[in-house]
Amino acid sequence: MDRIRIVGGEPLVGTLPISGAKNAALPLMIASLLTEETLELHNVPRLADVGLLLRILGNHGVDHSIAGKRPGQTAETGQTIRLKAGNIIDTVAPYELVSRMRASFWVLGPLLARMGEAKVSLPGGCAIGTRPVDLLLMALERLGAEIEIDAGYVLARAPKGLRGAEIAFPKVTVGGTHTALMAAVLADGTTVIENAACEPEVTDLALCLAKMGARITGAGTARIVVEGVTSLGGAEHSVLPDRIETGTYAMAVAMTGGDVLLEGAEPDLLQSALDVLVEAGAEISASNEGIRVRRNGAGLASVDVTTQPFPGFPTDLQAQLMALMTRAKGTTRIRETIFENRFMHVQELARLGARIRLDGDVAYVDGVARLKGAPVMATDLRASVSLVIAALAAEGETMVNRVYHLDRGFEALEAKLGRCGARIERISG
Ligand code: EPZ
Repeated sequence: MDRIRIVGGEPLVGTLPISGAKNAALPLMIASLLTEETLELHNVPRLADVGLLLRILGNHGVDHSIAGKRPGQTAETGQTIRLKAGNIIDTVAPYELVSRMRASFWVLGPLLARMGEAKVSLPGGCAIGTRPVDLLLMALERLGAEIEIDAGYVLARAPKGLRGAEIAFPKVTVGGTHTALMAAVLADGTTVIENAACEPEVTDLALCLAKMGARITGAGTARIVVEGVTSLGGAEHSVLPDRIETGTYAMAVAMTGGDVLLEGAEPDLLQSALDVLVEAGAEISASNEGIRVRRNGAGLASVDVTTQPFPGFPTDLQAQLMALMTRAKGTTRIRETIFENRFMHVQELARLGARIRLDGDVAYVDGVARLKGAPVMATDLRASVSLVIAALAAEGETMVNRVYHLDRGFEALEAKLGRCGARIERISG
């Protein structure tokens, strides 16, 4: 298994391109199941999760082609993928595939909407919490699906098709909103989704569905209205920039000091996180080119942050903020409200010298003057990258193990950081 070796202490300086968002690309790719025509997606990041989803979709009968490189494109400029689900040959998503990537469970909605039936393995637990799917199933039931759970599989049927309904989520759920949207677009009549997730990735999916012929209003607000249509066509869509990658590298710059342009980043996608960084002592400015992050000289100030659904501070940046705050003056308080078990990085940050106390869903981080490199590993993607941030500022060498987590969600991480002056290398094997 590959490892990443980092020698800390170098400030980051330069330009770092931001990739297309993993969490937008995955549901967009899944939306290809809704039409027999071609869906062409641009700016798709080169990530392990994208490759795995292509395999999963291929199993259902989706053909894909990846456009060759054009002049000026590099391994870090996103790729163009064409997906065509001319015929759905299998409506079963097996455990072996779904258990490797939770988001693949989202094939359930479009398969059901187009084919009237689907059998999808329950995804199971994961490193950040129990992550149930009850609300996704509730949404499909509201649209008239009959749902049965048998031998670890969800069997969903709607022999006479889905029909529009009101779906009121008791809790904001991104996957639930994606599922409701992808099922409602082909349902008979009007669907109203209340307490919908407002995350930019939901808006991006809705935009693409609209290009395919869906009739959707209100995406990006808590109330989305969908007028069902009988079929959808092909479309061309470019994946929005990755706000979590943007926030991650912004924190890396704040951690090491330096001056970096996050090229292609959009501030509206992560304003709450940028506000926290300013409070902590970073300088942030936005331009047509992207977001520039600087921290010169002065130390970091502690902050008080609670994770919230969009537009609040994202849970997917909680671990990275914690890494940053390990070196802030005073005590930082971070409350995690989205996932109950998303503090797996605490023990590993402690190995680098961080002082963090946990009390239920709150972490108290007492800033220390210095961190020291050590071998570390983490059990999920965002936790892994928080260790990279800490390592960039730690004295000496840190070896980050289990790099496959990083490969799932960060395109060309070592190349991007390396070009900005970080001493970082991948060690194969
Ligand atoms: C998406 O997961 C993201 N994944 C996550 O990113 C992200 O952390 C999360 O949204 C929250 O922003 C992708 O987009 C692929 P949820 P999702 O449904 O949709 C509870 C990353 O690192 N819930 O919004 O699965 C759930 O337990 C990943 O890229 C139910 O109770 O998250 C959680 O407490 C990790 N029942 C809350 O809702 C349900 O049926 C929000 O989860 C569904 C969810």
